[in-house]
Amino acid sequence: RRYSRITGTGSYLPPRRVTNDDFVAQLAEQGIETSDQWIVERTGIRARHFAERDVASSDLALEASRKALEAAGITAEDIDLIIVATSTPDMVFPSTAAILQGKLGVHGCPAFDVQAVCSGFVYALTVADSMLKSGVATRALVIGAEVFSRILDYKDRTTCVLFGDGAGAVVLEASDEPGILACDLHADGRHVDILCVPGNVYGGEILGDPLLKMDGQAVFKLAVGVLEKAARTTLEKAGLTEADIDWLIPHQANIRIMQSTARKLKLSMDKVIVTVDQHGNTSAASIPLALDHGVRNGQIKPGQTLLLEGVGGGFAWGAVLLKI
Ligand code: ACO
Repeated sequence: RRYSRITGTGSYLPPRRVTNDDFVAQLAEQGIETSDQWIVERTGIRARHFAERDVASSDLALEASRKALEAAGITAEDIDLIIVATSTPDMVFPSTAAILQGKLGVHGCPAFDVQAVCSGFVYALTVADSMLKSGVATRALVIGAEVFSRILDYKDRTTCVLFGDGAGAVVLEASDEPGILACDLHADGRHVDILCVPGNVYGGEILGDPLLKMDGQAVFKLAVGVLEKAARTTLEKAGLTEADIDWLIPHQANIRIMQSTARKLKLSMDKVIVTVDQHGNTSAASIPLALDHGVRNGQIKPGQTLLLEGVGGGFAWGAVLLKI
């Protein structure tokens, strides 16, 4: 049987780090009132990174990809599939993956984007796993990259304090041994309105609001339930139980969602990789950023079982259970 396994991870944060205090002061200048205490208590976020104006998702993806390739001990020429998960692409088209391919200095292999907002990385990983298992490709670069700073409404304190920019990447290679043990993806388009960027380009004009809108409480309620179910489904598919999970790597949206999910799965927070405090919510980038963080600081060790879980706009959600 053919499997796929992660052989290298990498990540990149743009250098400009904005602490809650920095942000609070910045927003106050525009008459928006918030506080470090409110942000920390409700979300667990203490700082986020914002890219400069001329830095796009593909630039962040390039840095993360280089690190993942180096960790896997291969070069961009060895890659035969590139998938970028992003909701903040460089352009309407072509794909950020095609732009990244050019920046990596290679050509020829398939490259495309996956758009599933904060679930983008688990969606992209599942697609890559299927393509590797079926023999369509042998070595994939799978990336989550976002510049949410561009789509934030800085007049809306309920959303602008939550997000950040960044990228994370993995090299996924075909293998005789797992690797990825089980995947579970879902979407429910009845909830499009609770988290969206409704604007669109029409004849050179923007129709509708081009900034992020969210009903935070509706998202919160839905998120916790679906994450528990997706976790249980992947465990069941792989014939494992919660006790087999060494690390839960959830989408880093909000510490309270992560705590609730861990509680439902009877996992201690010592088994959860947490980066939301330093990164904020980086949407599709948050899971590979947290994964790389855990690998590089020695928390995650080879042979361990990881559960990756994403949830967000769509509503879309999913989980990937794997051995690293
Ligand atoms: N600073 C100070 N006060 C604020 C701020 C702020 N930044 N934002 C909101 N408030 C106020 C509100 O105005 C409200 O005041 P009021 O009671 O006088 O009306 C009060 O705080 C409570 O507001 P709520 O919206 O009810 O706050 P809640 O406890 O629900 O927390 C939050 C809001 C953090 C957004 C929460 O709903 C949440 O975490 N939801 C999940 C959102 C999420 O994680 N989304 C991302 C997941 S999907 C994805 O990643 C794309």
